[in-house]
Amino acid sequence: MENPFVFGEIVEQRHFVDREKELQNLVRDLADGQKVFLLSPRRFGKSSLVSLALLKLQKRHIRTANITVSSYANYAQFLEKFAERVLRSAGPWDRVKGWIGRFIQRVQPTITMNPASGETSISLSRAADSDASPLAAEVFAMPGELARNGGFRMAICLDEFQQIDLFGGPAVENVLRNEVQRQREIGYVFSGSQPSLMEEMLSSGRPFHKAGPAVFLEKIPVAAWKDFIRAQFKSRRRKVTEQALDRLMKAADLIPYDVQRTAHELWDYAELADRAELDIPEVDLVIDEL
Ligand SMILES: Nc1ncnc2c1ncn2[C@@H]1O[C@H](COP(=O)(O)OP(=O)(O)OP(=O)(O)O)[C@@H](O)[C@H]1O
Ligand SMILES: [Mg+2]
Repeated sequence: MENPFVFGEIVEQRHFVDREKELQNLVRDLADGQKVFLLSPRRFGKSSLVSLALLKLQKRHIRTANITVSSYANYAQFLEKFAERVLRSAGPWDRVKGWIGRFIQRVQPTITMNPASGETSISLSRAADSDASPLAAEVFAMPGELARNGGFRMAICLDEFQQIDLFGGPAVENVLRNEVQRQREIGYVFSGSQPSLMEEMLSSGRPFHKAGPAVFLEKIPVAAWKDFIRAQFKSRRRKVTEQALDRLMKAADLIPYDVQRTAHELWDYAELADRAELDIPEVDLVIDEL
């Protein structure tokens, strides 16, 4: 049987623990076209929460795009990928191309389509390499143009949003904020794993001040973790004692990544040693080897 404890990856729905309220609120806000700021320390579960929210929105026929800001080396590359993801999420190129007249006229991108996959890729003009900023407003305006002309709603996530500052500081924030606030029909979630940098971006005098609700993701409560872990082991006819669970939670300091990682190792240990009951010594053994 597959190890049900996943760490270092986006958690799928069937292994997603708790956060029901947060999920419900995020889905609602994005569907309403709000601009939400999601903050927490690293490995608390922002990306997993957002992924699941976007999945739920897709089921409601809302187009979604998820872009990790920190994956791009420079502003021009980020803008290209942003445009690409948004275009792809909107639908098949044959239909989408009719909806982005202004973007094509002003930006004059090179758009290529892979006939096998039907996927489009975009490159912005050469000029963007030296200074991307004149293009930025056009690129950030595109989701609004698409949604209006195509008659649909959209939700966009910019993950690791604090990194946007590396592309040019408040000037970049300013362009984005100006375009985003005109897009009533588009929900945005800006999530950041450096709460201090994100808070700075939201402080007064900065472009994103009071642009939308800020959500601070807390740790997942002990009880929810215990239920989840117990149930997984039970499906394999194994029992984890209450004290063992307490030890595990304490060692992981309730940090979601660490809880999952420890539980993952405990699962592997139980499989290998074929233990029907897992108690404190077994948890300690596993923790020692992490
Ligand atoms: N709701 C959840 N249910 C179960 N496990 C979770 C949940 N949220 C987070 N985790 C665990 O924490 C790990 C990290 O989650 P995720 O990558 O979503 O966090 P993050 O806040 O985006 O982290 P980073 O700041 O490093 O990008 C996951 O791989 C998983 O092990
Ligand atoms: Mg993340």
